[in-house]
Amino acid sequence: MKKWYAVIGSPIDHSKSPIMHNSWFEQLEIDATYIPIRVEPENLEEALHAMTILGCEGFNVTVPLKEKIIPFLSAIDPSAQAIGAVNTVKKTENGWIGYNTDGIGFVKAFENDFGKSLRMAKGLVIGAGGAARGIVDALKNSGYMDVDITNRTLERALVLQKEFRLANVLEWRNIRDLSMYDFIIQTTSNGLRSSENWPIQFDTLKRSCKISDIIYNPWETQFLHQAKQHQLDVQNGLGMFVHQGAESFYLWTGQYPNTEKIVSVLETTLGGNHVNR
Ligand code: ATR
Repeated sequence: MKKWYAVIGSPIDHSKSPIMHNSWFEQLEIDATYIPIRVEPENLEEALHAMTILGCEGFNVTVPLKEKIIPFLSAIDPSAQAIGAVNTVKKTENGWIGYNTDGIGFVKAFENDFGKSLRMAKGLVIGAGGAARGIVDALKNSGYMDVDITNRTLERALVLQKEFRLANVLEWRNIRDLSMYDFIIQTTSNGLRSSENWPIQFDTLKRSCKISDIIYNPWETQFLHQAKQHQLDVQNGLGMFVHQGAESFYLWTGQYPNTEKIVSVLETTLGGNHVNR
């Protein structure tokens, strides 16, 4: 019988996960399909029950369910425990197990585009929300030695610094001059707003500083746009999206899919190169 997988959340129509996973099933000749299902928080428990009865093998979880799903799962992998959010669920004999592949997906995409040498370099994570939490956890687990954090609300940055033993907290009022950094990772939702505004003076940045923004819709945030105008190497969030999906796919099937091909398919439909070097 054909196996089936899903992504649940709300809204869900815009999700590119079905295109990506279905093309991987096809490439690897796996008899399975992947569908989007709109689930509101108040229906989550019933939806999970239905998915169990209907034989779902595994699914991705997106906004606004990533934290809310935890009480309904049988177990949580350490990757999700540290972050307090789940983006991947796998069926097992003992029930649903929750994982989080967002952080490792980020690191794989970052190193794919910029190499591994930045592990020894000095970096800054901007933001201290759920996305930043997954990323700093994965950076630390991957051996990044010198990562600072900054956030509009200082207290949240201090919490992450302590929890993940980050080097320093940079106060928000000091983000104008970021000349000491070799890489900067923008994790906030500021770039989703049309009035996005950054106090950073991009001309103070080192020419070699690598810039990453985890957003890919809009394709080019103001943050990336300004960095590009200053001739810096930049990547948007498409690589992270594809690599978190590849990690989920691997958890479900034991096979690692081709990430390069789907990156270029999505680049064609979404807006061009996701990385400018
Ligand atoms: P997510 O799970 O997407 O990370 P979140 O947990 O709500 O969402 O965190 C949003 C992040 O974006 C936070 O770091 C937030 O800063 P605050 O902690 O000060 O709220 C940041 N953020 C949102 N809007 C912002 C803005 N206009 N300028 C700067 N930072 C912003």
